[in-house]
Amino acid sequence: MTAHEFDFIVVGSGAAGLMAARKLAAAGRVAVVTKRDPETSNSDLAQGGIAAVTALNDDFSLHIADTLRTGAGLSDPRIVRMVITEGPERVRELVDLGAEFTMRKGSFDLGLEGGHSRRRVLHAADATGREIERALLAACRAERNISFFPHFSAVDLILARRPKRVRPQRNLCLGVYALEEATGRVHSFLAPVTVLASGGAGKVYRYTTNPDVTTGDGMAMAWRAGLPLVNMEFVQFHPTCLYHPQEKSFLISEALRGEGGILRGPDGKAFMKNYSRYRELAPRDIVARAIDSELKRTGADCVFLDMTHLKAAFLRRRFPTIHAKCLSLGIDMTKVPIPVVPAAHFFCGGIGTDENGRTDLPGLYAIGEAAHTGLHGANRLASNSLLEACVFGHRAAEAIKAAGKPARSAAKPAHWTTGNARPSDEAVVIKHNWDEIRTLMWNYVGIVRSDKRLERASARVRIISEEIVKYYWDFLPTRDLLELRNIACLAGVIIRSARSRKESRGLHYTVDYPAASDSFKKPTKVDRYG
Ligand code: SIN
Repeated sequence: MTAHEFDFIVVGSGAAGLMAARKLAAAGRVAVVTKRDPETSNSDLAQGGIAAVTALNDDFSLHIADTLRTGAGLSDPRIVRMVITEGPERVRELVDLGAEFTMRKGSFDLGLEGGHSRRRVLHAADATGREIERALLAACRAERNISFFPHFSAVDLILARRPKRVRPQRNLCLGVYALEEATGRVHSFLAPVTVLASGGAGKVYRYTTNPDVTTGDGMAMAWRAGLPLVNMEFVQFHPTCLYHPQEKSFLISEALRGEGGILRGPDGKAFMKNYSRYRELAPRDIVARAIDSELKRTGADCVFLDMTHLKAAFLRRRFPTIHAKCLSLGIDMTKVPIPVVPAAHFFCGGIGTDENGRTDLPGLYAIGEAAHTGLHGANRLASNSLLEACVFGHRAAEAIKAAGKPARSAAKPAHWTTGNARPSDEAVVIKHNWDEIRTLMWNYVGIVRSDKRLERASARVRIISEEIVKYYWDFLPTRDLLELRNIACLAGVIIRSARSRKESRGLHYTVDYPAASDSFKKPTKVDRYG
């Protein structure tokens, strides 16, 4: 087994991980361990933008109020205030690093999205995440102290003691095991501080706007290390993912509705007025549920986002990526409405952290979508996720540096052993279980839930998980197997969290308890011991 020693390990190369890595590089050697090329992340695909108060007609108190309202009573007001007031500083930093946001008459061209009371979404046309990633990656690549390990899949955290014997607070994170794709070998990455910036878990669901890498690896590793996962029932379904047989996960940004896009049913009639006075700009949970209800009511496969009343030149300039993608599939959005369906998009829950990304396990931090910081509550305000990624990437790095050069632990890391494992001869088991979990999560644990559906999903996931655990120990790990193990773990956690919340709030809607209840106005915490 190959062991690599660093001062800091960052797992993941999205906006949060790169922001942290760049700052940590000032204090020591950083390993960035990432599953594909460093460019491949969920941040890279973020279209709409990054929300921050920069306009003269805007105010921190308005952004805070919008975030809290959308969070449906579960956001932590202290964290919300902190993130929003630090937002403009992080935006300035991105600009200083060379991120080019779209400008208009010398100021940022600000977009509007659901739940925002002001135009405050900075964007780089409709490929904002890509521009932020480009700037951060260039800055990280210029740092001699940062080494990238692409095509390494994190397997598990390396702990000083066995997690079954001791609670995380009394344990210690020594680093991470990671599988090298090219050789199939597991390496040990050792450091006094590990930062999980491994993103969300959209692939738990059959339909998602997320890239293939989003299998919640960090969340699942933290769970296995004994850490609680918080608010995992709050999975955000983006209302508008392109519906096309050749494109399974292309996002149609909410910014289109911000510019006046109208949602129409198969009969051509606008329907959002029947669901919310904010119509197309209602928070995402409401729009996604409205579409779900229209699809069920009419039996149609998709609804349509109509932009044809807007000027063609404006659409081409403002949404060049979306326009080109649709055109490549024979859909000219300047002339015909875009077929859309909701799809899993963002996890508001994750690994519980404090205001600096610190977890309950000494030596471990979590940031970005992998973390639950208290910002999003029961529903995330559009374009607050890149903001959270940048603020917490910065805060975690600063807190780690302020704590001083961490001493290397005297604890001896356990070597990775393969035991009697052999190469898999039944890859079909992985494929079959992968499809089954994602389909049942979509059907039973999706936008609208019920006790009966959750119970069914729970029973099925338990059986599949037992099969996967057995398979995992019998065969040598592959990336597919690791990802399957992680989505199965998280499917179980999401179901447990959803079953424990006997109310409807934000993104968690169940027909059995259709109203919010004050007795559930608190975060859900689930760990492997409960
Ligand atoms: C979008 O452009 O609609 C996605 C932005 C976000 O998820 O906040």
